[in-house]
Amino acid sequence: MKIGIIGSGDVAKTLGAGFLKHGHDVVLGTREPAKLADWASQNPKGRVVSFAQAAHFAELAVLAVKGTAAAAAVKAAGAAVLTGKIVIDATNPIADAPPDHGVLKFFTTLDESLLERLQREFAGVRFVKAFNSVGSSCMVNPRFAGGKPTMFICGNDAAAKSAVTTILDQFGWETADRGPAVAARAIEPLCMLWCIPGFVANDWAHAFKLLR
Ligand SMILES: NC(=O)c1ccc[n+]([C@@H]2O[C@H](COP(=O)([O-])OP(=O)(O)OC[C@H]3O[C@@H](n4cnc5c(N)ncnc54)[C@H](OP(=O)(O)O)[C@@H]3O)[C@@H](O)[C@H]2O)c1
Repeated sequence: MKIGIIGSGDVAKTLGAGFLKHGHDVVLGTREPAKLADWASQNPKGRVVSFAQAAHFAELAVLAVKGTAAAAAVKAAGAAVLTGKIVIDATNPIADAPPDHGVLKFFTTLDESLLERLQREFAGVRFVKAFNSVGSSCMVNPRFAGGKPTMFICGNDAAAKSAVTTILDQFGWETADRGPAVAARAIEPLCMLWCIPGFVANDWAHAFKLLR
C-alpha cells in the first residue's frame, strides 16, 4: 500500500521503517524536512515530503504528531484530501505539564478522547486509534518472552479497522477491537499506564497482553 505518515518524530520514523520492511511504499510528512535527513539516508526507499504531500500520497495515512498539534496537522495535511481515507491515529493527548510520579497529564477528560475530537472535527476521515499504547521501540515486530502482545484499537469504520488489523498482523500484534471512537476514552490512557515504569525506573521494554 501507499503509506503517508504525517509526522517526523520517533513514531513516524519507526513506523515508516516498519512499513518499508513489510514492502509498502512510504513517505514521511514534516514541516522541516532537514530533521529527517538521517532517516532518509537509512531508508533510501522512503521519501520525505510535506504534510499535504503525505496526505495526497496516502492510500492509508498515519497521524503521528504531538497530541496538542493533532488537529492543526490534519488541517495542514488537508482534511478534504484525507476524507474517505483510513488514518491510523497514533497520537496521545499529552499535556505540556510534567508527569506526576511518572503519571502523564492529559489535556482531555475521561468523557472525551482526542480521537473523538478529531473524528467530530474531520467527520469524513476514517480514523482508527492504534499504536498509541506502546513505545516506538516496541512497535514493529517486537519480541517478548510473554508472547505476542495485544494492540487495542477503536474507530467508527469497520472496514478501516479490518485494514488496520491486517497491518497489525504484519507488525507482529494481536488486535483487540474495542468498538467505536468512544472507546478511545479507555485506550488513550493506556499510554499513561505504559509510561509509568519508564519514567520511574527507566523500564520501557514492555507491552500489554490480553489474557482470556
Ligand atoms: N514516542 C513514542 O514512543 C510514542 C508512542 C506511542 C504514541 N506516541 C504518540 O505519537 C505522537 C508522536 O510522538 P513522537 O514522539 O513520534 O513525536 P512528537 O515529538 O510527539 O511529535 C513530533 C511531531 O509533531 C509535529 N508537531 C509539533 N508541533 C506541531 C504544530 N504546532 N503543528 C503541526 N505539527 C506539529 C512535528 O511536526 P514537524 O515534523 O513539522 O516538526 C512532528 O512531526 C504523539 O502524539 C505521542 O503522544 C508516541
